[in-house]
Amino acid sequence: MLWLSKDGLLSAAALGVTFTAGLWLGTKLVSRRYSILHTFKSHCDTKGDPLMEYVLQNSLREHPILKKLSKRTLEDRRNMMMVAREQAQLMANLAKLINAKKVIEIGVYTGYNALNMALAVPDDGKVVACDINLEFANLGKPFWKEARVEHKIDLRIKPASETLDELLRAGEAESFDFAFIDADKVNYNIYYEKCLQLIRKGGIIAIDNVLWGGKVLKPRNDPDTLSIAKLNEKIYRDSRVNISMLTIGDGVTLAFKL
Ligand SMILES: C[S@@+](CC[C@H](N)C(=O)[O-])C[C@H]1O[C@@H](n2cnc3c(N)ncnc32)[C@H](O)[C@@H]1O
Ligand SMILES: *[C@@H]1O[C@H](CO)[C@@H](O)[C@H](O)[C@H]1NC(C)=O
Repeated sequence: MLWLSKDGLLSAAALGVTFTAGLWLGTKLVSRRYSILHTFKSHCDTKGDPLMEYVLQNSLREHPILKKLSKRTLEDRRNMMMVAREQAQLMANLAKLINAKKVIEIGVYTGYNALNMALAVPDDGKVVACDINLEFANLGKPFWKEARVEHKIDLRIKPASETLDELLRAGEAESFDFAFIDADKVNYNIYYEKCLQLIRKGGIIAIDNVLWGGKVLKPRNDPDTLSIAKLNEKIYRDSRVNISMLTIGDGVTLAFKL
């Protein structure tokens, strides 16, 4: 609560009470999810959490090739990096809702969400997929091909901020509909600012890992947590976007460009 009064954002006591209740509820949710993440190291593996199993069993409508890719990805030892599948489904639904055609994926790994978004955009749409590791993307490529959407995925292997600069220099500002920020955490603010330039009004930026396993509650000195916590605070006050912070996966903020 201290930081709120310091910012002088909310002064009404009533609002404060509502916020405290929300924060308390949020903490409960976060700690529950935190324990899930900690027990299983991966939000792909939900065995042992009956309610999460229920959610997936009653809502996940995974494309058969997405399912194959997630199985293949689970064999990789870095599989905890893969996006939560129910979160990917939400993002595809949002992309379709706003008729997204041009998408940016920052942090591809095996391309579960790149494939998911490629399936969501029309045939002449594209997903600019940014990663520095070609080896990871090569794991996913056969599946992109099998799903017949490989032609929509424009993979660029170099630091994501360079690719975003290239897009800006190519005159593609305000032409993208959706961006997913899911790469190195220390550069989150840079990605957010460049995406805000690249996204059109009414477009959406989804920022992943905004709860960082609950660590944002007590950001110590590690650069990743500090970077995420700082961006969370900034976006809360950012009048360029409307927002929702969701407790899905490891936490995702949806920023709707005004
Ligand atoms: C959490 S994973 C992405 C997961 C992916 N969105 C999915 O659908 O499963 C993060 C990825 O960011 C990549 N990465 C790390 N630093 C990067 C950078 N500076 N530029 C681009 N990608 C980077 C890593 O190689 C890794 O593949
Ligand atoms: C953004 O949120 C404000 C309320 O906080 C609302 O009045 C406005 O209509 C929203 N804008 C859009 C484009 O949704």
